[in-house]
Amino acid sequence: MKILPVLLCFLFISTFISPALSGRCNPQDKKVLLKIKKALGNPYLLASWDPKTACCDWYCLECHPDTHRVISLTLFTDNELTGKIPAEVGDLPYLETLLFRHLPNLNGTIPPAIAKLKNLKTLWLSWTNLSGPVPEFITQLKNLTYLNLSFNNLTGSIPSSLSTLPNLEALRLDRNKLTGSIPESFGRFPSRSLYLFFLSHNKLSGTIPASLANMDFNTIDLSRNMLEGDPSVLFGKNKTTFDIDLSRNMFQFDLSKLQFPKSLARLDLNHNKITGSIPARLTELDLQFMNVSYNRLCGKIPVGGRLQSFDYSTFFHNRCLCGAPLDSCK
Ligand SMILES: *[C@@H]1O[C@H](CO)[C@@H](O)[C@H](O)[C@H]1NC(C)=O
Ligand SMILES: *[C@@H]1O[C@H](CO)[C@@H](O)[C@H](O)[C@H]1NC(C)=O
Ligand SMILES: *[C@@H]1O[C@H](CO)[C@@H](O)[C@H](O)[C@H]1NC(C)=O
Ligand SMILES: *[C@@H]1O[C@H](CO)[C@@H](O)[C@H](O)[C@H]1NC(C)=O
Ligand SMILES: *[C@@H]1O[C@H](CO)[C@@H](O)[C@H](O)[C@H]1NC(C)=O
Ligand SMILES: *[C@@H]1O[C@H](CO)[C@@H](O)[C@H](O)[C@H]1NC(C)=O
Ligand SMILES: *[C@@H]1O[C@H](CO)[C@@H](O)[C@H](O)[C@H]1NC(C)=O
Repeated sequence: MKILPVLLCFLFISTFISPALSGRCNPQDKKVLLKIKKALGNPYLLASWDPKTACCDWYCLECHPDTHRVISLTLFTDNELTGKIPAEVGDLPYLETLLFRHLPNLNGTIPPAIAKLKNLKTLWLSWTNLSGPVPEFITQLKNLTYLNLSFNNLTGSIPSSLSTLPNLEALRLDRNKLTGSIPESFGRFPSRSLYLFFLSHNKLSGTIPASLANMDFNTIDLSRNMLEGDPSVLFGKNKTTFDIDLSRNMFQFDLSKLQFPKSLARLDLNHNKITGSIPARLTELDLQFMNVSYNRLCGKIPVGGRLQSFDYSTFFHNRCLCGAPLDSCK
């Protein structure tokens, strides 16, 4: 008796839903997808891309429920996929998401054809062997909200024009080999409040542009670069920043003069050249994580807030810090 509803459901799906909805496929999109498959050397990952079936049923992509145009292409986790990003991806005009991730043998540069994807909102190319620059032509993608080019082999400097992207909300360029400085224009992103601003694990140098005082990032990671000077424009009472990681750079400033956003929960400043003392203002924050080790700080660690809940490695390797959780002051 229990079999009947299951059977009915199956019949219903196969008779009505399947041919009517998922069966569709735009012929132009299908032609392009088959070219992409061929350009990638017919990888096993795309075995479901069979010319005899409707392309909206194929794996690694998604069609719009009404128009049946391909809106998402997501290829990930495949060691066999070899070659470069096929220029044909630029011929899927309704694409909103393009993702190539964990493809260690994907190489070459980011193809200019991507600039044709005027509806693109998410461009996520990570953990590949892509090389060459972060291309200027990305700024033609006016609908882009999410740009993640982390974990590649990209070189050159960061294009200052990225700040003209009107809808950008997240920028991840971390873990590449980028050089040069952080563009001054990055204080003028139209959205003013990117939730991710990650440039860590590169070879960036120079100082933090003063213009960044205008921005209010939720999470900032600039760690493991060669940045120097005073980054205090990233801080400020009026910001709503949650997490700041500036560790392993060459920043040099007086910590006691810094104003902190009330929202700050994570602060990593380890391995810099920071001077001064730990300000009592830090006891007013609800900090979940802090690390100021390997700097040039001095004086008594203020008592209060969460400061004594951290272990000694939060504070060790400074010039003359003392008091709990370090040894008491003489
Ligand atoms: C990435 O490309 C470089 C040459 O540009 C090559 O030496 C290296 O082996 C490649 N890495 C992988 C994981 O294929
Ligand atoms: C990409 O990898 C292929 C095969 O490993 C190699 O022949 C080609 O030279 C590489 N191209 C670049 C730009 O590194
Ligand atoms: C992209 O932006 C244009 C112009 O603002 C808009 O007309 C279009 O609907 C957007 N595309 C998507 C997929 O949101
Ligand atoms: C960006 O790419 C990295 C590497 O694939 C991934 O770990 C991360 O979740 C991605 N997205 C965001 C929002 O960080
Ligand atoms: C980047 O290229 C170097 C050689 O130039 C290679 O050893 C390394 O594996 C590449 N990185 C990634 C993430 O593929
Ligand atoms: C912070 O906000 C207050 C109220 O909006 C404003 O008066 C003050 O000038 C702001 N301070 C800074 C440093 O932006
Ligand atoms: C702080 O950073 C140092 C240096 O990387 C590390 O050795 C230590 O374990 C860290 N401590 C905490 C609490 O993260």
